[in-house]
Parts: sequence; structure tokens; C-alpha cells
Amino acid sequence: MKITVIGAGYVGLVTASCFADLGNEVICVEKIESKIEKLRKGISPIYEPGLDIILKRNIENKRISFTLNMTEGINFSDIIFFCVGTPQGDDGKADLSQIEEASRQIAENLTSYKLIIEKSTVPVNTHQWIKKTILRYAKNNVEFDVASNPEFLREGSAIKDFLEPDRIVVGTESNKARNLFRELYKPFTDQDRILIFTTPATAELIKHASNSFLSLKISYINMVSDLCEKVGADVSMVAEGMGLDKRIGRSFLNAGIGYGGSCFPKDVKAFIKMAKDNGVDFSILEESEKVNKNRRVKFIEKIENILWINKDKNITIWGLSFKPNTDDIREAPSIDIVKQLNSAGANLRLYDPEAAENFKNIFPESDKLRYFSDMYGALEDSDALIILTEWEHFISANLEKIKNTMKLPIIIDGRNIFDESLVESYGFEYYSIGR
Ligand code: UGA
Repeated sequence: MKITVIGAGYVGLVTASCFADLGNEVICVEKIESKIEKLRKGISPIYEPGLDIILKRNIENKRISFTLNMTEGINFSDIIFFCVGTPQGDDGKADLSQIEEASRQIAENLTSYKLIIEKSTVPVNTHQWIKKTILRYAKNNVEFDVASNPEFLREGSAIKDFLEPDRIVVGTESNKARNLFRELYKPFTDQDRILIFTTPATAELIKHASNSFLSLKISYINMVSDLCEKVGADVSMVAEGMGLDKRIGRSFLNAGIGYGGSCFPKDVKAFIKMAKDNGVDFSILEESEKVNKNRRVKFIEKIENILWINKDKNITIWGLSFKPNTDDIREAPSIDIVKQLNSAGANLRLYDPEAAENFKNIFPESDKLRYFSDMYGALEDSDALIILTEWEHFISANLEKIKNTMKLPIIIDGRNIFDESLVESYGFEYYSIGR
């Protein structure tokens, strides 16, 4: 099938590349020229495992192309995915100006049937605005449908999440659109992946409600972890025990320094605001947000309780991205923690396998803040190691080597990556969360 994807951000690039890899012909419209130049050479502007390979393969096969020209993109196919950004606007409300702009451009170029699909996370009933905007600006009376097909990709495992989805959700009221979706997702349904059809409003809500629920689960376990610390219980085991109940499930019960990224913080805010605008007081989510913000403050207090004075201490930080397998630092806990330690006068030694370059844009290198390309090199002469992201090579790090490289064997682990008794058997003072 022929597919147009508007927006070459995370969602757009993964959607475009994966659909191309499944044998479709895809054009991706993006307005940042430098991004297009990179993409045409097969270079992904973001770090996402596996994306470069799929991108290159499909450029070579001529199944994916990139353009700055919206008209060219719209004329290319009948199926148009909106994957533009919906950043946080005023009052926590989602800023939908890019959705509006894309809708107007579709209207101006509407000469034959189009199926317009929202993939970006949007507040409920955004599809109605898209429809209204297209009708207002359209020059011709041409049939079109607007559908919602939210994405559930996680950064760091986006390709796998796209190709092996737990469910594909489609919200549409049109039979024609439903048939196009059936054809589009046939490779998935052939493998018994679940495709559910619902109304656009329900589909929009499924996405927002899912993200908000997952954030709630994280905040919940984080509060349990505080209680564990007070009463001498182990939050990891509590999570195991709870998770074995199929109604609860083990995933998203990892206690730590809380959630970050470009989705949860923004989506939870937007969900609260949308509920409020509709007269629903979703205060349980406000609490979840408050708990999450507090994680960072508490972790900084923990560091102070352990190290006493941070000024002039050599502190190594492993992990700057908001989660492993990404170079994304948006809303990462590391930003607040580094800011606080930096203003307390610590000598910071930072290491992240992928996110250091992005981090340098916020915290440029200085005598008090240095970046290292080797995780062990970052530990030399260090008074403490702080772990903020659970990258796999931290989990499998050589504890003997860490101990021999540091000045003092102190580890403060914000993600509970090590087995306590194992680390302690090497002679470390080891502090983690809720254990
Ligand atoms: C999230 C959702 O998981 C995806 O389903 C959704 O499609 C995506 O948002 C989106 O809306 O685009 P993502 O933000 O990439 O994906 O990452 P997650 O794996 O969900 O992690 C989010 C944050 O929660 C990270 O900071 C992570 O460290 C934290 N987290 C996650 C925990 O603190 N504990 C956990 O148990 C799980």
C-alpha cells in the first residue's frame, strides 16, 4: 500500500520505517531540512536500536522517501498518518497547533479520497477538530475520513513494540476506513495480533488512559518503596509478589527515581486538564504527578544523608537518559539531580553511552562537570557512584573493577540494578531504593 507519514519524530520515523519494511511504499514529510538531509542518507536523527538498519534497508529498496513538500506528501497516497508533535502548552493542555496546520494543508490539497489517521497522542475528540478544520478549509467537496490509531511504542524498544504489538487500536466510524485498516494491518492479524475497532473518541481515550494508568502504577510502587524503607521490607520482592497476581502484573512496578521522558509527564498533565475541562476531577492523577516530582527531591536528600557534604566531592553519575536504550533526556530525572549537585559544588563526572551529547546542550563541560567516554574512567578518584539509568552494561558491570577504581566504595543506586548482598560482598556501601 502507499502511505504518507507527516512528521519524522520518534513515532513518525518508526511508523514510516516499519510500514516500509513490511512492503509498503512510504513517504515521510518533515519540515526540518537538516533532518531530511540526514534521513535521505539513512542516518537516524535519534538513537533507537534497530532503526538505522531498517531505514537504510528501505532507502536502498526505494520503499521509503523523505520530502519537505507537504503537497507532494499528500498527493502520494490516500492513507495519511499524523505523527506531528503535541507538546505541552499552557495550563498543561496539549498544544495542537501542528495538528491544526497539517489539517489545513490536507484541506488545501484535497482532490481525492483521503484517510487521515491520528497517531500522535491527542486529547479526546481531537478527531472532530481535524474534521471540522478540513471541512472549513477544503476547496473541493471531496470525501475523507478521520480515524484514531494511537501508538503504544516505548523509546528504546520502539521497533519491537511496533512489530509485535499487544493490541492495535483503531477508532473510526467509516466502513471504507475500516477496510483500509484491515488491509494495512493484515501482516499483523495474520500473526494473530489483536486489532480492535472502536469509535475515534474511545481510541483517543485508550491511549491517554493507558499512559496515565502506567504512570499511576509507577507512583504507587514508589510510595510502597518509601514505606518499605521505613519498615525494613524489600520493594523488589513486594513488586515480585504483587506482580504474580495476573490482575496486577509485574511490569511498571520498578521503584526508583520516577518517570520522565517525552510522554508520561506531558500526557498525565494533559489528561488531568482534559478531565477538568470536562468537569471530571481526576485528582488521583494529580497525586501521581506530585509523587513523581518528589522522587527527585527525595533522592537528592538521600545523597546528602549518605555523603553529608557534596561540595568538592568527586561524584560519578552513570546514566543521563530518562531510560535505557535511548539518547533522549527530555524530563529526565538526571537533569534535576545534576543541577542540584552542581549548585552544591560537587565535582561531577558524567557518563552515558548515548545521551551525553544531548546533555551537554543543557550542562556544558566545565571544571566542575566533566563528561567521560569510558564508564570506568569516570570512576577514577571518585567518592561515590550514583546510578540514574538502568543501562544493560551497568547491570553487568565488573564490581571488582568499580571498587578498585573508586576512591571510596560507595554506590547510590536510583534504579535498583544490583543485588544487594552481591554488591556488599565486594565491600561496597550500597544504597538503593525501598530495600
Ligand atoms: C511510554 C509508554 O510506555 C508507551 O506505551 C507509549 O507509547 C509512549 O510512552 C508514548 O506515549 O509515546 P516511554 O515514555 O518511551 O513509553 O517509556 P516507558 O518505558 O514507558 O518509561 C517511561 C518512564 O517511566 C521512564 O522514565 C522509566 O524509567 C519510568 N519507569 C518505567 C519507572 O520508573 N518504573 C517502571 O517500572 C517503568
